Amino acid sequence: MMIKTENATIAFGGLKAVNRVNFELEEGMLASVIGPNGAGKTTFFNLLSGHYPPTEGRVFYQGEDITELPTHDRVMKGMGRTFQITNIFPELSVFDNIMIAAQRLNVPFQMSRLMTFMFLSKDRKSEEIANNILEEIGLADQRDVMADTLSHGLKQRLEIGMVLTLNPKLLLLDETFAGLSAGETKQQIEYVRKISEKYTILIVEHKMDVVMDLSERVSVMHQGELIAEGTPEEVRADDFVQKVYLREEI
Ligand SMILES: Nc1ncnc2c1ncn2[C@@H]1O[C@H](COP(=O)(O)OP(=O)(O)O)[C@@H](O)[C@H]1O
Ligand SMILES: [Mg+2]
Repeated sequence: MMIKTENATIAFGGLKAVNRVNFELEEGMLASVIGPNGAGKTTFFNLLSGHYPPTEGRVFYQGEDITELPTHDRVMKGMGRTFQITNIFPELSVFDNIMIAAQRLNVPFQMSRLMTFMFLSKDRKSEEIANNILEEIGLADQRDVMADTLSHGLKQRLEIGMVLTLNPKLLLLDETFAGLSAGETKQQIEYVRKISEKYTILIVEHKMDVVMDLSERVSVMHQGELIAEGTPEEVRADDFVQKVYLREEI
């Protein structure tokens, strides 16, 4: 099992944003957690990545109890995540963005990424890693372009590239399709499909149709709880899921 939660709960005051969630993700899978706005998806991600500690319950990664493990230790164990709002440096080139991420491997985490970049020389190993990743994410041709000039879809892909420098086993992608045009969404779907051969992937997504055909397993969150799980077909056919989604604007 790649990741597992047992009765995981995160309460913000009286609000249980994640409520007794039992979730399992097998190694090699491409799975999604979907649900309407405010369902608790991002909070659930923050639980997995260690950004929020659970109020109750446990989190396991490859069989190890990581409930108390700080975020950077999880990253070092191969848990990589993107954020709903991209984390790139808009004024720097595509290559330099990847370099910043690659060099982060060699320095204490407390230093800001930009400081790191300014103080470290561009060592050949990081440069080699960065070039390989640019190939892998299909941005080699845009190497010297300022990141801010990339389309929203390619910015998302650049952010995935920054996470790949950490050599992850598990990729947690938070709303990686949000704000993409129809064409960009198609490209991003193909891209995620491609990298899913190499990594275990968990996507959090608001829009149901985007991830349905892409995912092997789908879990549905609603008001902090997992209300359905299964193959896309099973989830699509679930009465409660249909009700929840019909009530929301999607
Ligand atoms: N840091 C926080 N403090 C208080 N409430 C929060 C915090 N983060 C999220 N929430 C609340 O928890 C619920 C779930 O939010 P979130 O996990 O962002 O949902 P989703 O990603 O599914 O849209 C929402 O009601 C939201 O307002
Ligand atoms: Mg969210």
